[in-house]
Amino acid sequence: MKHLIKALKIGSVELKNNLALAPMAGITNAAFRSLCIEGGAGLVVSEMVSAESIRYGNKKSLKLLEICPSEHPIAMQIFGADPESMGDAARLAGELGADIIDINAGCPVKKVLRSGSGAALMKEPLVLEAIVKKAVKAVKIPVTVKIRCGLTPGDVISPRLARVIEGAGASAITLHGRAASSFHTGPVDYEAMAATAAAVKIPVFGNGGARTASDAAKILETGCAGVAIGRAAVENPAVFIEIAEGLKSSVRDVKSDPAGRIKLFIRFLELNTALYGGDEGVVRARKLVGYWLKGFPDSSALRGNFMKASGLNEAKALLLQYIGHSVQRYDRHTP
Ligand SMILES: Cc1cc2nc3c(=O)[nH]c(=O)nc-3n(C[C@H](O)[C@H](O)[C@H](O)COP(=O)(O)O)c2cc1C
Repeated sequence: MKHLIKALKIGSVELKNNLALAPMAGITNAAFRSLCIEGGAGLVVSEMVSAESIRYGNKKSLKLLEICPSEHPIAMQIFGADPESMGDAARLAGELGADIIDINAGCPVKKVLRSGSGAALMKEPLVLEAIVKKAVKAVKIPVTVKIRCGLTPGDVISPRLARVIEGAGASAITLHGRAASSFHTGPVDYEAMAATAAAVKIPVFGNGGARTASDAAKILETGCAGVAIGRAAVENPAVFIEIAEGLKSSVRDVKSDPAGRIKLFIRFLELNTALYGGDEGVVRARKLVGYWLKGFPDSSALRGNFMKASGLNEAKALLLQYIGHSVQRYDRHTP
């Protein structure tokens, strides 16, 4: 399986491996992305940011595009329906330090669809083509596109779309192997991944449900050049190292170290408070706690207390106390 993990190039950008972080709104900020780079990701991606808001210099949106010096290579993901503003936003994101511009053509959220962006672009290949062409023309860095395998389950259109995207000049594609109407749940369509990877010469990153080296191998064996990992990275930002190790070894699935995971969450809190300031950094981390503590024993009290914690020191103390009391039990109870 060693051959499945490898360095990869997206246009001119060299990735140390073919494991990428998948973009996640409200989660993949600079603090989280830095941790994923430390955790072995070959590429990190910002959450999606509206092209219009970038164009108009919206402060909140520009904050989402702030990057730390250590977090390269980084793709910034933009969404929109108008080729002109997508071209402008791509240029501005490039000026803000992006190594790659990623175009969101897979978001199924109603508000995004109503504006003709996200997965709505899969119904309008000519608009998608115009957007990719404008973005490619606007920047010197590579442009990539994230799509779904179709709009509804069973109606696979990604191979056809992938050819349009490649023809318009994109350097890679991320394929979430579920239909837009399935959001983030349900089976992943590996046949659609195989057909899409076979349809184009540019690298295709398969995405959906990858948590272990075995899951990643299943995606890479379809012919996808890489794997994009979303929620498993929120639970454990070191998942990239673990998957890479698993793919290199005969053991396959490397068991994560629970105390190490909690320590990573503490590192995240430190980075997030540096980004947003004391209280806000901890408050913003609240939405991640459910992911972090998945599978840990007796974690509901910790979760409750974390929701009330007001500053970094209090939040850190809660997590450290939990390592002392409960993590050893977790070790004993997991195979
Ligand atoms: C909370 C959340 C936010 C997401 N936000 C984005 C986004 O901003 N842009 C995007 O292209 N996909 C987004 N996604 C989809 C993920 O990138 C990914 O395709 C999906 O979670 C499946 O991968 P996974 O099973 O490894 O999590 C989001 C998913 C989640 C769970």
